Amino acid sequence: MSLLTLLFFSSLLSLSKSTPLKPHPLPITPLPSSQQLQWQLGSMSMFLHFGPNTFTDSEWGTGKADPSVFNPAHLNATQWVQIAKDSGFSRVILTAKHHDGFCLWPSDYTDYSVKSSPWRNGTGDVVAELASAAAEAGIGLGLYLSPWDRHDGAYGKTVEYNEFYLSQMTELLTKYGEIKEVWLDGAKGEGEKDMEYYFTTWFSLIHQLQPGAVIFSDAGPDVRWIGDEAGVAGSTCWSLFNRTNAKIGDTDPLYSQQGDGFGQDWVPAECDVSIRPGWFWHALESPKPVAKLLDIYFNSVGRNCLFLLNVPPNSSGLISEEDIKVLKEFRELKQSIFANNLARKAFINSSSVRGGQFGAENVLEEGLDKYWAPEEKQKEWELYLEFRDPVSFNVLEVREPIQMGQRVASFHLEMRNVKSGKWERVVRGTTVGFKRLLRFPRCESRSLKLVVEKVRADPLISYIGIYMDKFSDSGRNSSKITITRTLLNDS
Ligand SMILES: *[C@@H]1O[C@H](CO)[C@@H](O)[C@H](O)[C@H]1NC(C)=O
Ligand SMILES: *[C@@H]1O[C@H](CO)[C@@H](O)[C@H](O)[C@H]1NC(C)=O
Ligand SMILES: *[C@@H]1O[C@H](CO)[C@@H](O)[C@H](O)[C@H]1NC(C)=O
Ligand SMILES: *[C@@H]1O[C@H](CO)[C@@H](O)[C@H](O)[C@H]1NC(C)=O
Ligand SMILES: *[C@@H]1O[C@H](CO)[C@@H](O)[C@H](O)[C@H]1NC(C)=O
Ligand SMILES: *[C@@H]1O[C@H](CO)[C@@H](O)[C@H](O)[C@H]1NC(C)=O
Repeated sequence: MSLLTLLFFSSLLSLSKSTPLKPHPLPITPLPSSQQLQWQLGSMSMFLHFGPNTFTDSEWGTGKADPSVFNPAHLNATQWVQIAKDSGFSRVILTAKHHDGFCLWPSDYTDYSVKSSPWRNGTGDVVAELASAAAEAGIGLGLYLSPWDRHDGAYGKTVEYNEFYLSQMTELLTKYGEIKEVWLDGAKGEGEKDMEYYFTTWFSLIHQLQPGAVIFSDAGPDVRWIGDEAGVAGSTCWSLFNRTNAKIGDTDPLYSQQGDGFGQDWVPAECDVSIRPGWFWHALESPKPVAKLLDIYFNSVGRNCLFLLNVPPNSSGLISEEDIKVLKEFRELKQSIFANNLARKAFINSSSVRGGQFGAENVLEEGLDKYWAPEEKQKEWELYLEFRDPVSFNVLEVREPIQMGQRVASFHLEMRNVKSGKWERVVRGTTVGFKRLLRFPRCESRSLKLVVEKVRADPLISYIGIYMDKFSDSGRNSSKITITRTLLNDS
């Protein structure tokens, strides 16, 4: 090694020695697990309700439908997965068994399954076909195994049925590769036999068999139901929650929608809703218009939740043309709004900075690990955006680096009026979390200020977006936008 090279390397060494990084602040508990983080980063999952109900025009099958009704002539799980992937969904979740008890895989514990159907002469396995298509496309697989079973004779006998249920669960979690989500609910008909589900045992076994999976139910443990089937989260929505405050099959919808700013557990919410009026496909039903899907997106993903959209395959075993069309419009609409973050054109500064690596410019970089952190012990937390020319916008996006805990309780956006030069409030919001989107009537300004009001700990902001949603601006008279204005005037 020459003297010069030696000098060069030692100067590098001394440089790195002389500038140690300021450490990250302490995370504030509860914190997400790695499975919960991965789930949240996925933003949207596609639900697939499929089974005998698809052929009998029903929603809650009685469990008495003849297995011969199940015969999807053109079933193609690759088509389902392709559509999910192309439309921006990170996972697909299949009703492996709905309340009617019919199994879409050839379970060894019942004859009420695909093996008693004419489909593929009784040799088919929908779960296997979907698992293979999902693995091929690189998207995650989730399965729903209904606790309520209207077919099996063991239902109502506590020990017997729990044994049966867990044996079926074991089949699903050991034969089909990696499962990312197990979905359970507490649905049960009026006057149904009384019995106890051994949830604690179920959850332990599921985590043992699929350590990468999150478990969804009214009460978590990993992901909670939002409390409605409209896909709408509370405008305050904490991922914090007390699992002990929720009971599967008997939840307080308000608690589920809002979470709990004092909660001890990290249990973020998933917003399930169907693209059509029913969960199963019915010939006479049509998908929701794209404007409705966009509203749901703002009220779920835009409120710190995951959007679980049900797109039911039809009786041919394919996703219908009308649904494909609206999903394509939805993807294009989101793209048209979110592809152009106007904040990228701004000069960004802040009221204070914790240290070198935590500068305000970090809020323009995607990803959780780069974020703005203010200096400790401040009373004001503000981010400034200065534009060379005035920008028109009607959407604000804010994100927190949730691996450090959820911190912000309330915030607002101000802008300097182009004419009067005075600061005016644009919109106010409560809770941020992984992603917060707020819509408001179109504004124009050169100077913006994001003000964090109330926090559980020093605020950390990982991303800011300023967008122009031309679709909602041009004549679509959304009632939601009027509501935003009203809230604004209240505060
Ligand atoms: C299944 O769907 C995929 C994706 O749409 C398509 O490429 C493939 O040809 C289909 N397979 C059959 C057998 O129709
Ligand atoms: C299904 O069974 C029928 C009658 O037994 C037979 O004609 C047909 O070839 C079989 N189809 C398949 C795909 O095995
Ligand atoms: C959740 O648990 C925390 C800690 O025990 C408690 O302070 C809080 O009040 C609980 N929330 C509700 C709604 O009971
Ligand atoms: C199901 O959807 C496909 C389009 O993917 C369509 O060709 C087929 O006719 C539909 N089947 C029914 C019964 O509507
Ligand atoms: C950024 O903000 C800080 C604190 O408000 C201020 O001292 C500094 O001059 C600002 N920097 C620029 C380049 O405006
Ligand atoms: C929205 O609705 C209001 C009242 O119904 C109406 O006055 C206004 O012109 C509508 N705006 C647009 C852009 O259609």
